[in-house]
Amino acid sequence: MGSTSHAMKYSKFTCSFEKTRNTYKEWSKLFNSPKNGPFAIMDIGCGSGQVLMEVLEPMFPENYSELVGIDIDPTMIEYCKNLKLDSRISFEQMDIATKKLPDKFKNRFNLLCSFFCLMYVTDLRRALRNSRDMLKLNGELLYLFLHRINPVWECYKDLSRQEEWKPYTQEFADFIPRYSGEDRELELQADFTESGLEIIKYEFQSDYSICTTRRNILNLFETMNSLYHRIPEDKKQNFRLDYVISLSNYVGVDFLKEESLEEEIEMFFPTVVVHARNTQTAK
Ligand SMILES: C[S@@+](CC[C@H](N)C(=O)[O-])C[C@H]1O[C@@H](n2cnc3c(N)ncnc32)[C@H](O)[C@@H]1O
Repeated sequence: MGSTSHAMKYSKFTCSFEKTRNTYKEWSKLFNSPKNGPFAIMDIGCGSGQVLMEVLEPMFPENYSELVGIDIDPTMIEYCKNLKLDSRISFEQMDIATKKLPDKFKNRFNLLCSFFCLMYVTDLRRALRNSRDMLKLNGELLYLFLHRINPVWECYKDLSRQEEWKPYTQEFADFIPRYSGEDRELELQADFTESGLEIIKYEFQSDYSICTTRRNILNLFETMNSLYHRIPEDKKQNFRLDYVISLSNYVGVDFLKEESLEEEIEMFFPTVVVHARNTQTAK
């Protein structure tokens, strides 16, 4: 897939963000935002900026000082940079689990938000330590991400069992989705507290669903397939096909039947919502 078309395709993923909006609104009542002074926000894994624009930006106090969207995928950032937005909004390519957090982001933000990104981060603890370092003292974060399932990585695990795809998917061979065991509460608490964050509230939700066409769901999962760049050009088409077959089996929906792609389906995404704060002063 061409690079910008990847982001274009994702930007066409339309669904109602009602549930996301309600969750952010409800949980934001607990935010301890500064009454005066600058209010700086970052959206992590902003994708094509839909949640940033439709949910986050309208929710913030009008006098917020800046809103920075970051994403690991340069095509998403390129796409976002072309959107005509408020001059306080900017975008930057960055891996939230980077080993070298840019100095300019340290101790800068009052609030970090992230919607459906962290399940794609292998080193979650490093991502959380970076989050802590980007927050001001008593700055807060609100992260929503999948737990118990991760369809994209489950497909990679499945593909890692096929000789042809093993070389490209090996690190997923033993993949177990985050917070899928009996000790999920302890696991989550350890991830956040050992990264230097104080949890204010968290909730495992199983009623998070998206109602949209099969085509939309397929597009969503195709744009989240971040391994294409590893696959040799002449194998890309077969890889795509096997990925879609694997996805169909995992989700239990046939995405190969072109004639049924316009049918609406409801898909459940078990989500964990975490509200935490940084209680450590910057080093
Ligand atoms: C499902 S999309 C969600 C996008 C956006 N939050 C929205 O709702 O429109 C997940 C995004 O996370 C990004 N992502 C994945 N791993 C990341 C990482 N390590 N650091 C930053 N962004 C990442 C992907 O490139 C993708 O754009």
